[in-house]
Amino acid sequence: MSNAQPLLRVADLTKLYRTRDATVVAFEHISFEVRQGEIVCLLGPSGCGKSSLLATIAGLQSADAGEVLLNGNPLREPHPDVAVVFQDPCLLPWRNVWSNVALGLQLRHEQLPSAVLRRRVQSVLCAVGLEAFARHYPHQLSGGMAQRVALARALVRNPALLLLDEPFAALDAHTRHYLQCTLLQLVHGQNTTCLLVTHDIDEALFLADRVLLMSASPGRIEQQWHIPVPHPRQYRDPQMIHLHATVLEHLAKHSTIREEAKEVADWVI
Ligand SMILES: Nc1ncnc2c1ncn2[C@@H]1O[C@H](COP(=O)(O)OP(=O)(O)OP(=O)(O)O)[C@@H](O)[C@H]1O
Ligand SMILES: [Mg+2]
Repeated sequence: MSNAQPLLRVADLTKLYRTRDATVVAFEHISFEVRQGEIVCLLGPSGCGKSSLLATIAGLQSADAGEVLLNGNPLREPHPDVAVVFQDPCLLPWRNVWSNVALGLQLRHEQLPSAVLRRRVQSVLCAVGLEAFARHYPHQLSGGMAQRVALARALVRNPALLLLDEPFAALDAHTRHYLQCTLLQLVHGQNTTCLLVTHDIDEALFLADRVLLMSASPGRIEQQWHIPVPHPRQYRDPQMIHLHATVLEHLAKHSTIREEAKEVADWVI
């Protein structure tokens, strides 16, 4: 891994939402860097601004202060070297699997020769284990298969930076673990840099080289941990168990859920 300039630099970033009645600070003064090939997971309590941060880094919405730099260049709008995967696979229902994946490439390389396009789609469909389902339509897929298509559509572009917002949160535990392994295999293979938002401490510890913890609303980066455990990681590894306990303790400090639960209990009584 190079120690030169980071692939992604987020510098003093702040995002506000202005509604008719109020201004909401989604997150403020967020600064961090991600090195080439690094996998960074972003954890934090619900509503602390993780999705807003990811969407701002992706250039899907503008920041109110600060800047995002990709390889030292300002990133203010969607960029062909940056791919995003959301919790909802967002597949086009009138396109089959092959054609949904090809879309990722067509958006980037309008002039790509069709033979090259075919080869790359074929290769990424094999990588996510869906080569036999190329002619299927989204309504014929399970949730896990649809999310594999979304992953393939992002990775077919061979992006420099892959942003993922709780990509596996809606899946059952077995499918989630399978897709976490698939993601690791693919991004390690392509040396893709990843920033992944998750609620799940286990997921963060299984995937990340580094975990960032955001505080409750408005979010700031409170803490970070380097995860020195070699892959493939085991949840029951004593080092992983210790890391889990440490992260959980910090997350609990920043969570408002206990206060909200108490408010609900008081209301019910
Ligand atoms: N389009 C919007 N307009 C106004 N406020 C918004 C908008 N999107 C998000 N917010 C507010 O910004 C804050 C951060 O929301 P965001 O969705 O980024 O949090 P999150 O950390 O991703 O939450 P979760 O873990 O539940 O997905 C919240 O207070 C939310 O209500
Ligand atoms: Mg979110």
